[in-house]
Amino acid sequence: MTRTLHVPIAERSYDVVIGDNLDLLALMQPLHLGSDWILLYDQVFETLADGQILHRIQQQLNNPRIFAIPSGETSKSLSNYSALAEEILQTRITRDTVVIALGGGIVGDLAGFLAASLLRGLRFVQLPTTLLAQVDSSVGGKVGINAKAGKNLVGAFHQPALVAADLSLLNSLPKREFSAGMAEVLKAALLADADFWCWLEDHADPINSRKRDTLEEMIARAVQIKADTVLADETERTGRRALLNLGHTFAHALEAATGYDARKLIHGEAVALGLVMAARLSKGINIDDTARIINLLQKVGLPTTTELELCPQALYELMLYDKKADHSGLKMVLLEHIGCAKVQPAPAPEDILAAITPSLKYRTLLFT
Ligand SMILES: NC(=O)c1ccc[n+]([C@@H]2O[C@H](COP(=O)([O-])OP(=O)(O)OC[C@H]3O[C@@H](n4cnc5c(N)ncnc54)[C@H](O)[C@@H]3O)[C@@H](O)[C@H]2O)c1
Ligand SMILES: [Zn+2]
Repeated sequence: MTRTLHVPIAERSYDVVIGDNLDLLALMQPLHLGSDWILLYDQVFETLADGQILHRIQQQLNNPRIFAIPSGETSKSLSNYSALAEEILQTRITRDTVVIALGGGIVGDLAGFLAASLLRGLRFVQLPTTLLAQVDSSVGGKVGINAKAGKNLVGAFHQPALVAADLSLLNSLPKREFSAGMAEVLKAALLADADFWCWLEDHADPINSRKRDTLEEMIARAVQIKADTVLADETERTGRRALLNLGHTFAHALEAATGYDARKLIHGEAVALGLVMAARLSKGINIDDTARIINLLQKVGLPTTTELELCPQALYELMLYDKKADHSGLKMVLLEHIGCAKVQPAPAPEDILAAITPSLKYRTLLFT
């Protein structure tokens, strides 16, 4: 069985299809998504399931031109983008060429930016393979790469023509990566849907055992929240889309402070810590609500405190550099209650520090 959600962004509308062993060609044909494809894939698929998944997609697409992307954030560099762009252009693409991304957020963001920029825009299809990519990064059209000055600073808004989220791909996902995706699911519920939050509390066990139907329901509900939020503010002008940054001002500071080192912290783990900090800082959230939030994050295998040695003041300074700190000052997404968030001017520095410190087991006094 498959489930289809429609994202109605005028002439850039598209479907998100959720199911098992999806027939890509059958999904693409009615959309007239061409016959000339380039496939960018996470290199892990050369070995995962003995390369069978990659092989099946190559067969379905009648041997498209393929480009392997090494796993890891370094693939989202400007230098890698430029090398790939040159390589792809050598293959004589046309405006009818369709870019297909098989992988997590790294491949999706990079392939999406190649699609947005090559020949001033090619259509592209997302085949998200991590939970984070299925519930978050593949939907909404933000694509981009990293610069020395920071993550995702070079990018575009470029909506996919189709997102095909294959649940069967999640079976091989390491537990740490699965939990990281759950941070974005919990974030979505916290910012927009109290019923969904209660549903997640009730379904933590089948989620952790990756029960197929539970995952389908959960992913569909999380995608719906992302799609609704994006629809209200496609290019982040009105502030509605900024709600998706709940917990992220803290998370980005934590990631920067740990040098984007995946051995120390991955994005979803930073988001989990950030959600707890945001909850502590939110006036509408009482101690019982904070305990509920911490409890569910922990149940799905996410950290709510860290043993990494970090300096609260240094984290606060990194938050000021976050891209939402414009000339009108730092803004933050805070909770009104579970299921509702608002963008607000940042509270006083001492309140922010008081929200950060309980999550740091080992605090350093100096910038590390
Ligand atoms: N565009 C957006 O709106 C948006 C939103 C959130 C995050 N992001 C970006 O997404 C990136 C993170 O994405 P991610 O968490 O998916 O990370 P990722 O793409 O690095 O994937 C995580 C790990 O899982 C492996 N992997 C992927 N699919 C697998 C599978 N099916 N089975 C086993 N292993 C698999 C990868 O090789 C990698 O080691 C970051 O660069 C972040 O900036 C973008
Ligand atoms: Zn995120």
